[in-house]
This record gives sequence, C-alpha cells and structure tokens, in this order.
Amino acid sequence: MKLFSSVKDIRVFLNEQKSLGKSIGFVPTMGALHEGHLSLMRKAKTENDLLVVSIFVNPIQFNNKNDLQKYPRNLEDDSQMLEAVGCDILFAPDEKEMYPEPINKTYDFGPLAEVMEGKFRPGHFNGVAIVVKRLFDIIEPARAYFGEKDFQQLTIIKKLVEIEKMDVEIVPCPIVREEDGLAMSSRNRLLTPDQRKVAPFIYKTLQEAKLRRNHICANPLRQMIINVFEGNENFRLEYFDIVDDKNLQSINGWNNKVGTIACVAAWLGDVRLIDNIRII
Ligand code: PAF
Repeated sequence: MKLFSSVKDIRVFLNEQKSLGKSIGFVPTMGALHEGHLSLMRKAKTENDLLVVSIFVNPIQFNNKNDLQKYPRNLEDDSQMLEAVGCDILFAPDEKEMYPEPINKTYDFGPLAEVMEGKFRPGHFNGVAIVVKRLFDIIEPARAYFGEKDFQQLTIIKKLVEIEKMDVEIVPCPIVREEDGLAMSSRNRLLTPDQRKVAPFIYKTLQEAKLRRNHICANPLRQMIINVFEGNENFRLEYFDIVDDKNLQSINGWNNKVGTIACVAAWLGDVRLIDNIRII
C-alpha cells in the first residue's frame, strides 16, 4: 500500500495510473475503521482497478467540539486493516493540506438537509459536502462508496454530485451489523461495556417498527416507536422518523410506490448513535 499525505504527490501518482487506463474506486473515511468500512472497500476492490481510501477527521463537519475531540483516531491499526483488505493507496492529509485557503462555501440542499441530522447538527452536511467535493477533486474516482447507515449523508452526496456536475458514480452499500444487531460505527468503541450491552435496543426497536407496518398506520406507528424509545431510560432520543427515501420528508400514510425508511438518532450516555431500517 502506498501512503500519501500531500495533494500534489497523490495527484501526480493517480494521473500516471489513469493514463495507464486504471479505474479508481474510492472510499472516504474518518478512520477508526471497522467491518462496515471494510465491506465498502471489498466491493470497491472488485469493481475497480485501484482502491484509494482516505482518512481525514474533517473538523468542519463537527458541530460539537467535544465530539471532534473524542472522535477515535488510530492510524496504525487502520493501516494494518487497509493492508489486509488490499488497499492500494491511502491518502491521509492534514488540515492544512486539505484546506489551504479559508473555507466559505455554502451549499443549499433545500429540505433534504433541514430534517433529521441536518436539523440536529447545524452545518454538518455543509462540512461533509465541502470535504467530499475536495476529495473527489483530488482523487477523481470513477466510483465512490458510502454506507447506508448514514442514509441522509448518502442522499446529500448524490445531490452534491448533481449540483457540482461531477463525473463519479455513487455506490450505496448495505449497513453491516454486529451479531446482536448493533450497526457498526466508529463511535461504538466509545461505549462503556454496560452501554454496549444495551445498544442493540436501537435496532430491535427499528425491527419492531418494520414488523408493525402491516397493522398500524405511519403516524401512530411513529408515535408508538417514539414512546418506546422515550420509555427506555438508557437512551435520550433525538429523533425517530419514518420518511420517503427520496426526499427524506416525513410520510403520513403507507404507499407501496414510495420507498420508505425509518431513521433514528439517540444518545447513549454521551455517545450519539444513528441507525435506520427500510420499511418499504
Ligand atoms: O461518513 C464519513 O465517515 C464522513 O462523513 C465522510 C464521508 C468521510 C466525510 O468526512
């Protein structure tokens, strides 16, 4: 695996590879890699000639300083996992390299960014969009891979590619779960053993929502699931919603023609976890 931290150097190398006709599959990450990331990488490996992975903890997408500070970082462990998965190129720039100029871009994603994560993490998606645009400009991948756990992020990135008219295919990848159902996330390693034990409650409750869909209408189901979360003293629910999978707005009734997904964000102590499940 080749390691680059300079934009100039990776550009030179990738231009050479492209002139040899090699296609690039790209997995952007913030490190603290887990099986979820690795599944994206394995897919990218099979669909492209070269796998490029970036590790950059992007400060401008954190709306909370404490969250940024405690975000897990371990480049040594990450590098070993990348070697094992057959990553060809790791791009791990520092902040100056990523943002040499002051950043003042503001994207307008409309209602897509006004709900759920967008509502509770002001500025978050603007920061994600800026870093993803910059990374795409540097790497110029044929395909880029994103996990469906961050379903709203995936939707926003598809929109970003449309707005910026970028020539990259966005490939969604299914959520990878621990055996007990907890969605894999870098944040899971911040959970205490006791918190880790109760964390699968989130997915169990999402499954419950899915099971009930044939028996109860969307509005009362939403309220029922909110009550279930609020009744569990381990969690502090931020939102639970049942939304159209295209425009991410709340739905009020079932319609088999509209893809529907239930999304949740909840705090377990001071760790914020998100998850979702497809209902239709
Ligand atoms: O999903 C993530 O890890 C980050 O939001 C991303 C896409 C790497 C941008 O920093």
